[in-house]
Amino acid sequence: SKIHHYKFSVVMKNTTKLCQTKPIVTVNGKFPGPTLYAREDDIVIVRVTNHVSYNVTIHWHGVRQLRTGWSDGPAYVTQCPIQPGQDYIYNFTLTGQRGTLLWHAHISWLRATMHGAIVILPKRGVPYPFPKPDKEKIIIFAEWWKADVEAVVNQYTQTGMAPNISDAHTINGHPGPVPNCSSKGYTLHVDSGKTYLLRIINAALNDELFFKIAGHNLTVVEVDASYTKPFQTDTIFIGPGQTTNALLTADKDTGKYLITISPFMDTTVAVNNLTAFAFLRYKGTPAFPPTTLTSTPPINATAITTKFINSLRSLNSEQYPAKVPITIDHSLFFTIAVGVNPCATCANGSRVVADVNNVTFIMPTTALLQAHYYNISGVFTDDFPANPPIPFNYTGNPPSNLATNNGTKLYRVSYNSTVQVVIQGTSLIAPENHPTHLHGFNFFQVGKGVGNFDPTKDPKSFNLVDPVERNTIGVPTGGWTAIRFRADNPGVWFFHCHLEVHTTWGLKMPFLVENGEGPNESILPPPKDLPKC
Ligand code: C2O
Repeated sequence: SKIHHYKFSVVMKNTTKLCQTKPIVTVNGKFPGPTLYAREDDIVIVRVTNHVSYNVTIHWHGVRQLRTGWSDGPAYVTQCPIQPGQDYIYNFTLTGQRGTLLWHAHISWLRATMHGAIVILPKRGVPYPFPKPDKEKIIIFAEWWKADVEAVVNQYTQTGMAPNISDAHTINGHPGPVPNCSSKGYTLHVDSGKTYLLRIINAALNDELFFKIAGHNLTVVEVDASYTKPFQTDTIFIGPGQTTNALLTADKDTGKYLITISPFMDTTVAVNNLTAFAFLRYKGTPAFPPTTLTSTPPINATAITTKFINSLRSLNSEQYPAKVPITIDHSLFFTIAVGVNPCATCANGSRVVADVNNVTFIMPTTALLQAHYYNISGVFTDDFPANPPIPFNYTGNPPSNLATNNGTKLYRVSYNSTVQVVIQGTSLIAPENHPTHLHGFNFFQVGKGVGNFDPTKDPKSFNLVDPVERNTIGVPTGGWTAIRFRADNPGVWFFHCHLEVHTTWGLKMPFLVENGEGPNESILPPPKDLPKC
């Protein structure tokens, strides 16, 4: 295996979009940021130097970080932030992983402008389990605010209400051709007859997106750096934090074809409903060809999302078996919801909050992993209430009391135990699809459904053979998702909704995985330069 060294310099950069220029927080002055390239089992060493006035951290979303939780990145969970003028070296191994992932800032809303691709190629000489593409292209979606993004999230602190939605979606940094803004949009150049592997990343903060290319089908081969059974689709559905690899065959002679991304929202929650445009352009196409158009799915196209999600299966081949845990040590039930708590300093005297099992997570001021490693008491408790009553009607009318409990509560499991979490989306208030992310693990989605989870019936139809393996999963609006994983990675691992607005509101909790007894079953000691709080 090889060692790859990268330098991430966090700097402000004046950037113009939508006819307006503002300074944004970037890595190396780029939006989207630089791509990390490596192969399976390689070592990646990234020195991050903070030249801005904000505290920063970087998370390598989907990288398992086996025994190296110190390099995972969520602020106050696995590390204290890198303060202005300081640096920190992230050092991790891509053990048994290949595919597309993303890195992003993991503090406040800095990931709006601090994110980029992680491309992990198979080991040298190991082919893809699908026809070899002629070329590979990275396609990253994001959201753009005309205002300063940190000021946007601060609206929540002051008012207790939802911060403003974004002003545009972007494709590889471009909102699409914007009239009178001298923005031409992104163009994907292709040669007729060639096959392209598109590495598609949704780095948006709050929007789940549909992706389409006029006149072309795509073949999905991988999600969240796990191979899938290939399937064809004309629409990709992708939530924040998710990645999808798809093959595109340039099967036309020439021409220019519209590419669109547009949001999905199947309830009345406010969302940026703008479409961003890019173009697919064949080599040899005349200068001003007509563009072949495509329609975008309706914003509430639940049928399209369901069809896409139902098509996802692990490849489960001899070489890449789906190692689904069959017996379960911890059977957990999590409700995820939005509530309202009193707030003395907020304009209305109350604030919107979000919770897991009615606990709104309160960020500590010491990193949880340090508190765990050094036995510092008073930072967290390990009494996370993991089994609220079922059956219960979680999708009925709102209760009169919308208040949640506050706490810094972890759920503790022993090394190598198996965990099942049924995540129940409630529709009590603000029902919404939640793309939920677990750090430190891939998990299998063994089941899902609409309405209330029924513990006597639903597990009978779980897929324990070839369920999709991912790190971020949609919990349907007023429905549930069941995931399973093996807790073979000691440390403290964050679990949260990857809609940044919900994370901010408290829809997050950590798992604490204890060390095992064996020689390679405990977390490694912290690096010397680990930031202090
Ligand atoms: Cu991609 Cu905890 O995040």
